[in-house]
Amino acid sequence: MASLLDQLSAMTVVVADTGELDAIRTFEPRDATTNPSLILAAAQKPAYQALIDEALKSSREHIGSGAPVEDVVNEALDEICVIFGKEILRIVPGRVSTEVDARLSFDTEATIEKARKLIRLYEELGVTKDRVLIKIASTWEGIKAAETLEKEGINCNLTLLFGFCQAVACAEAGVTLISPFVGRILDWFKAETGRDSYPGPEDPGVISVTKIFNYFKKFGYKTEVMGASFRNIEEIIELAGCDLLTISPKLLEQLRNTKEPLLRKLNKENPSLAEEEIHVDKNKFDSMMALDRMASEKLDEGIRGFSKAIETLELQLAHRLAVLEGGAAFSHAVQEIFLLNDLDGDGCITREEWLGSDAVFDALDHDHDGRLLQDDVCSGLGAALSLSTV
Ligand code: E4P
Repeated sequence: MASLLDQLSAMTVVVADTGELDAIRTFEPRDATTNPSLILAAAQKPAYQALIDEALKSSREHIGSGAPVEDVVNEALDEICVIFGKEILRIVPGRVSTEVDARLSFDTEATIEKARKLIRLYEELGVTKDRVLIKIASTWEGIKAAETLEKEGINCNLTLLFGFCQAVACAEAGVTLISPFVGRILDWFKAETGRDSYPGPEDPGVISVTKIFNYFKKFGYKTEVMGASFRNIEEIIELAGCDLLTISPKLLEQLRNTKEPLLRKLNKENPSLAEEEIHVDKNKFDSMMALDRMASEKLDEGIRGFSKAIETLELQLAHRLAVLEGGAAFSHAVQEIFLLNDLDGDGCITREEWLGSDAVFDALDHDHDGRLLQDDVCSGLGAALSLSTV
C-alpha cells in the first residue's frame, strides 16, 4: 500500500513548511513556506553561515560603508529572506512564500512597500514574481495591503489566519492564497479547556479549515486554501483534499512512514456547508474579531512571536557583522603594522626596526625572542580587541 504521503499528494498539493534546504530536498514538495521563526531556526545552522555572510556583505555594499549597523542589518534581513527563498526555488518546482516583517502588520503602506521591495530583490536575483507568494499577517491592514499588491500582480499568502472573518475578507480582497492555521487553534482550545487531546474530526483547527474550504468552494471564491500549522498527522488526514497543506519535515516523515488508506475529506466539487454568504467590511471585521477571542488572541500572539524572532535575528546579524567587519579591519591593521615596521620585508620585525615604544614591543613579543612575527602581532591585537569589546 502507498504511504499516506503518496496518497495525500494525489489529492492535495503538499508544501514543505521549513527553511531547511536538506529537508526540502528529501520530500520533493511542489512549494515551500517560510516564516520568521523558521528562518531564525535555519540561520542557526553552520551550513547556512556562508549564505548569511553573503547577505550581510551585499547589504553593506548596497547601504554604504558609513551607514549605521541597524540599516545594514535591516537590509540584510530582507536579503536573507530572499536568498533563502531563491535557494528553496532551486529545489522546488513551484512557489516559495516569503514573509513581510511582522512588525509592519498594522501598517498597510509599509507592508506594500516591503512587499514590493522583496519582489524587486527576487527579480534582481533572476526570480520572477509568479514563483513568490508574499506572506502577510491577516490583520485588516494586511488584507488591504494584499488587495493592492494583487492588483499589481504580486501574489500574496495571508497568514496567521484563525477566524472565519479573516478568511472571508481575504477572499473578497482577491488574495491568491490563505494559510488558515490548525495547530495553533488546537493549542488555544487545549489551554482553554484543559483537554489534552481532540480526535481529528473534533479538532477545532480542522473544523475551522473545513468550514473555510467549503465556504470558498460553495460561493466560487478563487482564493486557494492552504492548511498550515499542524501538530499531528490526524489533523492532516482530516484535511485530505484541501487545495494545499503546508507540513513540517517531522510530520512529512511520519506521513511517509505510515501505510494506511487515506480518504478524501474535502471535495471542491461537492462542498458541504449550511452557511449563507456574508460580506466583510472593516466594521464587520472588527466586530467579528472582537467576538472571537481565540482568533484575536492568536493573531496578536502570532505577530508578537514573529516580531520577536525577527528581533533575535537582527541582534545575531549585528553581532556577525561586527565579527566580519572587525575581522577585515583587524587584518588590515596587521598589514599596516608590517608595512611600516618590517623595513627589510623579511616577514619579521626586530626591535631595531620597530618604530613604536619598547613597552608595546615587549607586550607583543610573547616568547621574548626579540622578533615580532605576524602571529605575535595578531594575538596581541586580538587581546586588545577582545578587551575593548568586554
Ligand atoms: C506556515 O505558513 C506557518 O507559518 C506555520 O505552519 C506555522 O506553524 P506553527 O504554528 O507550528 O509555528
